[in-house]
Amino acid sequence: MVLDEVDSTNAEALRQAHAGEVGPLWIRAQLQTMGRGRQGREWVSQEGNLYCSLLLRLDLSQGSTTGLSFVAALAVFDAAQACLADCDAAHGLSLKWPNDLLVNGAKLSGILLEATSAGAAGTGSVAIGVGVNVASSPDVAGYLTTDLSSCGSDATVDTVFAQLAGAFDSWLRIWRGGDGFGAIRSAWLERAGGLGQEVVVRLPNEQLTGTFVGLDDNGALVLRDASGNERNIFAGDLFLTHPPLSVGADV
Ligand code: BTN
Repeated sequence: MVLDEVDSTNAEALRQAHAGEVGPLWIRAQLQTMGRGRQGREWVSQEGNLYCSLLLRLDLSQGSTTGLSFVAALAVFDAAQACLADCDAAHGLSLKWPNDLLVNGAKLSGILLEATSAGAAGTGSVAIGVGVNVASSPDVAGYLTTDLSSCGSDATVDTVFAQLAGAFDSWLRIWRGGDGFGAIRSAWLERAGGLGQEVVVRLPNEQLTGTFVGLDDNGALVLRDASGNERNIFAGDLFLTHPPLSVGADV
């Protein structure tokens, strides 16, 4: 389903779920008037970029969404890699916990999962929203942004979406058919920025510094402090303190 304009493709997906749609269903829009980002932030949604959500019905009672945001991140990574195939910037792609895609430290794509509450049978719906900067990147306070066009790609919104949907299918099959989160975690860590390095994690009431040593079984970031104590972080903003130098990023 492709809409000219919508408040938010995630909001539309959840409305459709409440109206009885079970999916899988992709909802795309050329423009969002109230694009939603992580932690209640706005996702600036100018024309020319990709805004889409996949609506899925899942058993929410057994933590089955663990891994889904990492599945989405892997799919976005693969889609961007395909669209940047002939560009130097492809070598600068990395995932940033929990599910941002960066090019040389600048944000190319963001992902937002939103779920309905589980019903009596434990099932519920999840909207997996993906925004990819294709033609332009908004100025956002606090971090650098980039877009495929600035990185040298001539991919259109349609080609990016086709790559994303195909890659999503493949990773979803791996997640569902394999050892659950294990294979997804390994693949995600192979593409992750900051692993083994000193990072900063900003939480609502504190800021932590430590070494990013991995992900636990629930996708929480494992941070080791100078004394060797480990803490599992479930939500927060990660800052890579030693980002690679910018190449191909629109900074
Ligand atoms: C982030 O803050 O990094 C997550 C951004 C997610 C944006 C996408 S665009 C399509 C979908 N609809 C929304 O309102 N948000 C997500």
